[in-house]
This record gives sequence, C-alpha cells and structure tokens, in this order.
Amino acid sequence: MNEFLKDVWEGLSAPQKSLNSKYFYDEEGDRIFREIMDCPEYYLTKCELDIFVNQSKNIAKSINGNLADFDLVELGPGDCTKSEYLLRELLVTHKHFTYYPIDISENIINQINTSLPNRIPGINIHGLNGDYMAMLEKLNELSAKNKVVLFLGSSIGNFPLTENPSFFRHLKQYLKPGDLLITGFDLKKDASVILNAYNDEAGITKRFNLNLLKRINNTLGADFDLDQFEHSPIYDLGSGACISYLASKIEQSVQIGSMGSIHFAKDELIYMEISQKYTVEDTHTIAYQSGFSPIGEFYDSKKWFVDALWRNNE
Ligand code: AVI
Repeated sequence: MNEFLKDVWEGLSAPQKSLNSKYFYDEEGDRIFREIMDCPEYYLTKCELDIFVNQSKNIAKSINGNLADFDLVELGPGDCTKSEYLLRELLVTHKHFTYYPIDISENIINQINTSLPNRIPGINIHGLNGDYMAMLEKLNELSAKNKVVLFLGSSIGNFPLTENPSFFRHLKQYLKPGDLLITGFDLKKDASVILNAYNDEAGITKRFNLNLLKRINNTLGADFDLDQFEHSPIYDLGSGACISYLASKIEQSVQIGSMGSIHFAKDELIYMEISQKYTVEDTHTIAYQSGFSPIGEFYDSKKWFVDALWRNNE
C-alpha cells in the first residue's frame, strides 16, 4: 500500500486521530509555508534571521576556533536566506570548505545549485537531494573532513520532545568526534506571542493545516469538506508544547478512497502538528542525552530564539 495512504488511514483510525505534519509540504504547502514565514505574527524566521545577520561573525569565530578544517552541511536549507550570512563570513576566514545543502526536494537543491554561486562568488557547493540520514551517509564517502551541520528553523520542534534525543543520536551516527552541530530552538515566551504565531489574523496557518485535508482529497480520493473543520491551536505553558488541531464542526463521516469511512463526533480533534518550545536548560539536557556538549549559544535581540552550538563527544 502507498505509504501516504497507510499513514493517513492509521492516523485517522486511532483513538486520538492524527495526521503526520511531514505531509504538509506538497507544492501548495511549500507555498503557504513561505507565506507563514512572511506573516507578521510568525516571529521564528525573523528572529533566526536576526541571529545570522548580526552574529555570523561570532558563529564563524566559534567554528574556526574548534575546527581547523571542515565542510558545512545544512539539513533543509530552504533558500539559504539565513545561512548565506554565515557562508559569506566563513569564506572570508576559511576559503576551502564545501557547502553541502541536503533536502528531500529536488527542486530546492537545483535552485540552490544554480543561484548560490551567483549570490556568493567563490563558494564551493554540492547539493544533495534525498533523505537527511541517507545523504549524510553518502557525504561520508565524498569527504573525510570534519563537519559543521546546520539544522535551523526549530524544525526539531516538530518532533515530540521525547523523540528529540533519538533524532540527534541518529544524526550522531554519521558524525565524527569533534564535529559541530548548530540547531535552532524556539524558546518559551509569552503564551499569546506563541499562540498568535500559529493562529495568524489572516488565516494563513489555518489554510496550511486545511491544505493537508485537500491533499488527502486530491491524492487519496477522500471527501473531506474543508468548511466543516476548524483550525484550533493550543499552547501549554508548562510543557512548552504548541499543538495544532483541526476540530470537526459537526458530526460527520469522511470517505478515504477505497479504504473505508472515518467517523467524526462533533468537536472531535485531529492532532496535526507539534511545535515544541524550549528553555535553554531543555536544550542542554537534550544535548547531553544525545552525546553532544553544548559549547555556545547565539540569541536574537529579543532572546526569543537560540541557535545552539554543540560539539560531538567521543
Ligand atoms: C517548520 N516548522 C518549524 C514550523 C513550526 O513553526 O513548527 C511549521 C509551522 N507550522 C505552522 N506554522 C509553521
């Protein structure tokens, strides 16, 4: 059976209905996510850009202070808007590195391969299209140098907190002792600021969530009525979990292609996505649990977001 169909059917058949947020990103989902990043309430991208605009010199200094020779890897580079600042800085201080952006989207890798050399003359770039871990394995055959890995955007927050160490331990299998990792973490802050970022005035995030139902209709032959589901995010101050749900406005049944139908009670929820928020102490705990040592932190001017620098232990 098609993996998407299997995941959708299993997710909607469970007592707590859920859909996997990795399926948000079809062509339309990519487009809506770019709108989210530009909307006034979504502060994450702006804060992390502030870090790279204002602190790339310091980040480059820390990298050069720890490694004499390295390649730079970026997991999920987008259009490199943020990393471009660091790349320019590293080119000044350390001419011989290669930049390896890794992405599941061939389109993104093709765009970077062609546009980045024009934007940053002199850059050595080798884009890798595929799954992060599979491409890291391939990269180890291409280069024996130490690595600096960028994992920005608080993408780690889209995994449940309990799964964060296992993600980093998996990543560690492809790294050498002394390799560096820079991860973006969105920090805990005023609850209304966080909630508004996932419930913007213009309804872009609502469209982003409903687009997954549309994708299921279009590709799996389902018949979700998008008007009968409400976007309903919550933020739990204690745990730092911001969770987006879609709530069924009425009692209804939805046909999922030839698989069968799913019954929804009025107000029943589909768990769509977690966007975990952290304290700096949380990030230290995750580093130690995953076999890394935290060695630096770079904040935006509001201290709403941190890019954490970790060193891979023995
Ligand atoms: C990609 N990821 C870090 C975004 C986030 O903030 O969790 C995805 C997103 N979902 C709704 N808005 C943005």
